[in-house]
Amino acid sequence: MSASHTDNIPTHDAHIASHQDDARIFLDASRAHVERRLHQLVPHDSVEPRVIHEAVRYSLFAGGKRFRPALVVAVGTAFNARLETLLDTACAFEMLHTYSLVHDDLPAMDDDDLRRGQPTCHRRFGEAMAILAGDVLQTLAFQTIAGDDRLSSDVRVRLIGELAHAAGTPSGMIAGQARDLAAATHEIKAEELTRIHAAKTGALIRAAARCGALIGNARDAELEAVGTYAARLGLLFQITDDLLDVTSTAAEIGKTPGKDATQQKATYPALYGMKRTRELARAAHDDALRALDTLTYPTALLRAIARLVLERRA
Ligand code: IPE
Ligand code: IPE
Ligand code: MG
Ligand code: MG
Ligand code: MG
Repeated sequence: MSASHTDNIPTHDAHIASHQDDARIFLDASRAHVERRLHQLVPHDSVEPRVIHEAVRYSLFAGGKRFRPALVVAVGTAFNARLETLLDTACAFEMLHTYSLVHDDLPAMDDDDLRRGQPTCHRRFGEAMAILAGDVLQTLAFQTIAGDDRLSSDVRVRLIGELAHAAGTPSGMIAGQARDLAAATHEIKAEELTRIHAAKTGALIRAAARCGALIGNARDAELEAVGTYAARLGLLFQITDDLLDVTSTAAEIGKTPGKDATQQKATYPALYGMKRTRELARAAHDDALRALDTLTYPTALLRAIARLVLERRA
């Protein structure tokens, strides 16, 4: 944001704006570190069986925002952990997330043709290879943490437990995906919709923050606070995903807009309408910030990240 623009807005807003700029710079830098490390961690596509590594790399390096790894790094850094100790765990979250996208797009699930601005994995490589590419990314996520010798064995075991809990059932990503698919066939209540979003998207985002804090040797109460912040942030992330499905173009989001309505998905706009959904997004944002109030560590970056998610256009 230019200085002249900042000069024109009241001090309080200018303060927020400068934190927003810092957060954008942080996210860009984090993305670059994560991309570089991912390239090292994932087998090259000349490694046999080539087709599976091509499929994995095709989906992984198609230009995701790398939001979950950024959260590992942002929270870990707030707890004074060094980047080298955070980076592999951050990459593990991106692997697990990308696996969830590849499977989410399959014909048996959301049946999508476009992801990260290019044809979906199964469109390009066929369904069988897309299933296997997802499987590879999932196992590689756990292998990456297990093999990170910058961390003690105790910490590695805790991280693996956090990631598995967030990915699986009864309250993790897979449970959320199962609930999401079941909900498309019948009317659901507000409570169930929140449960779907908290599980399919919130769980992994919460675990990313908790893992950053764990690497930074956070105490239980701090882990709890950071976890609550990120659970609200995760809910906000999926509410804004629902909003963008209604308001954005394919060029902006890199996926086919309007899919949720076509597939009669359980979303916030479908249940509440756009105006109320925007209010609920704001409330999730405010809840996220409130959860940080007890922390003595610096939280400006985490607050600015929540604001960026509230206002995101992609
Ligand atoms: C999309 O996640 C799926 C959701 C859980 C909402 P992102 O919006 O983080 O997608 P990428 O990683 O940037 O492609
Ligand atoms: C994503 O929900 C949840 C996942 C765990 C992948 P969506 O189905 O709304 O995500 P997009 O819109 O396809 O990215
Ligand atoms: Mg889905
Ligand atoms: Mg989908
Ligand atoms: Mg969506």
